[in-house]
Amino acid sequence: MQNAVVTVDGPVASGKTVLCQRLVQRLNQWDWLSTGVFYRGLAYMILELGLKDSEKKWPQMISEEKWKVEKEKHQTSFWYEGENKTPLIYNASIDQMASRVAENIPVRQALISCQRAHKKEGRGLIAEGRDCGTAIFPQAPLKLYLTAQDEVRAQRRAKDRNELPDRVISAQRKRDYSDSQRAFNPLRKPEGAWIIHTDQYSLDEMEEMVYKKVKSLF
Ligand code: DC
Repeated sequence: MQNAVVTVDGPVASGKTVLCQRLVQRLNQWDWLSTGVFYRGLAYMILELGLKDSEKKWPQMISEEKWKVEKEKHQTSFWYEGENKTPLIYNASIDQMASRVAENIPVRQALISCQRAHKKEGRGLIAEGRDCGTAIFPQAPLKLYLTAQDEVRAQRRAKDRNELPDRVISAQRKRDYSDSQRAFNPLRKPEGAWIIHTDQYSLDEMEEMVYKKVKSLF
């Protein structure tokens, strides 16, 4: 299990989380880490502490002990000052702030080792995000890149969040743009990645084909 890492990258609402949730339920001895939770958690703290315009202070927050990210089978959770704040990190203002935090190079550099530390001896890891196959675990034996048409992704996100697709799509395009155009470790298709157009499969089909691939490799 030493090198048992599967990376799952892709843009907003490409279907990463739901695929990871399903896979990790079926794979004993495997964990799932949504790396976006680090950026969302930092965004939460920045807004909470009024540090929106103090970018220089953001990297210092990483070593503070008042927050942590924990892996669970159904979610990756964010804890702040001893409380589980996960339900508060999935909304439009955190989406936007997280994408800004993700552009901060010292923050990204510091987070890489925190994220790698979630790969535990004797356990497999499914790492989900935007730079898992390109920067965090570039040696992973299986790298996935999920994508789907803009409109399909916006509809999914609107349904999840109970919002209108027309409103969601402009925020989504903005976030896709900043995530893929940032200078350091942007969202890219990892070399050798298996590219899956998630609008061409049902969830069951996708789960089955990726599960089979994982079982054949590890
Ligand atoms: O996957 P997500 O929507 O929870 O990610 C939130 C933001 O975090 C995303 O817009 C960009 C950033 N992110 C990143 O830059 N690198 C990652 N590996 C994961 C997320």
